[in-house]
Amino acid sequence: MQNFTFWNPTKLIFGQGQLEQLKTEVPRFGKKVLVVYGGGSIKRNGLYDNVMNMLNEIGAEIFELSGVEPNPRLSTARKGIEICKAENIDFILAVGGGSVIDCTKLIAAGAKYDGDAWDLVVKNAFATEALPFGTVLTLAATGSEMNAGSVITNWETNEKYGWGSAVTFPQFSILDPVNTYTVPKDQTIYGMVDMMSHVLEHYFHLEENTLFQDRMCESLLLTVIETAPKLLNDLENYEYRSTILYNGTMALNGILNMGYRGDWASHNLEHAVSAVYDIPHGGGLAILFPHWMEHNLKVKPARFKQLAVRVFGVDPEGKTDEEAGLEGIQKLREFWNSIGAPSRLADYDIDDSKLEVMADKAMIYGEFGNFTKLNKEDVMDIYRASL
Ligand code: NZQ
Ligand code: ZN
Repeated sequence: MQNFTFWNPTKLIFGQGQLEQLKTEVPRFGKKVLVVYGGGSIKRNGLYDNVMNMLNEIGAEIFELSGVEPNPRLSTARKGIEICKAENIDFILAVGGGSVIDCTKLIAAGAKYDGDAWDLVVKNAFATEALPFGTVLTLAATGSEMNAGSVITNWETNEKYGWGSAVTFPQFSILDPVNTYTVPKDQTIYGMVDMMSHVLEHYFHLEENTLFQDRMCESLLLTVIETAPKLLNDLENYEYRSTILYNGTMALNGILNMGYRGDWASHNLEHAVSAVYDIPHGGGLAILFPHWMEHNLKVKPARFKQLAVRVFGVDPEGKTDEEAGLEGIQKLREFWNSIGAPSRLADYDIDDSKLEVMADKAMIYGEFGNFTKLNKEDVMDIYRASL
């Protein structure tokens, strides 16, 4: 295990009825509140009215930025930054899924930065200051509610990159499973694929002596595998929604991956695809991740075997580590397909015409991945296998 420092300042507020806590949390930061949300789901399910009522009760001066896109765009963040600067906003409240939260992170940091916010995303500048912000999460998936990461798309240049800094943790996040009841089936599936992928990104590392971390990762995967089919048959079930919501946060808030560095190449591969084709992040991962695994099975077959045996119930008897590992990958793919996730890029009408464009985008910072480095040929191979 490597040395580590764990620090996560986000206050996590979980459970039914917890929205009430907005009334004590928000006033700590000031009166002028910018509420950021997406394309209207919160208006349709009543959450918008509930949030506004509470903000009105505490006498907040409310400003709004609506229309944050899934795969949030730089252009929308720029609008939010303009509002913050023009109106001297004290606090930003993100009400939505990962996209709304990620966009809010760029608005918060951009509001305190003199140059163009894209500098922060492409790491030409580093965010050292940000407006405080909180979140009301409506979709279990990214973990953005309790981490400092943000993924932003520049639709003019077809680029999508992750960035973040110590100042982009939410001050608090309110997670009421009831607010996720209306998440449609497809987004529920993508969310579960995404949180499982975060755990898998952790899982493929080269460190030794991570016994406890491995068991935590495996436990999370097993929990999602057990709960997913039940939830998909009963979308308004509190217990299932709460299990998945909690798992989504735990998958990417730093708790599972202390003392080692996960791989993260599959996320980079996916971001390059959704930068060009605007597909859902979890859908892209369901297609690409098993191919990344097959491509890198030989790097450390014992790791793949451990996953196959402990999580997917593969019987290792009489099999090499590679054979058992491969069976596990197949079972992962089958599981994702069984809950309705896509398995081929063709499912999104993606053909081979832009493979090289995507590969170049994935390679912007050079070879990538921590379990093993991918070069452009590797990337092209994985994309080709995924067609
Ligand atoms: O825009 P609205 O109308 O709100 O609809 C959204 C959107 O269409 C809808 N939705 C959300 N909550 C709902 C709901 N519909 C009904 N009822 C609700 N309660 O769901 C759609 C997708 O929302 P989005 O926020 O885009 O989904 P998700 O949370 O999966 O976020 C995806 C984005 O996060 C990035 C992805 O790349 C992608 O851009 N990621 C961010 C990470 C992070 N910050 O740590 C890590 C992830 O790996 C990921 O890359
Ligand atoms: Zn993800």
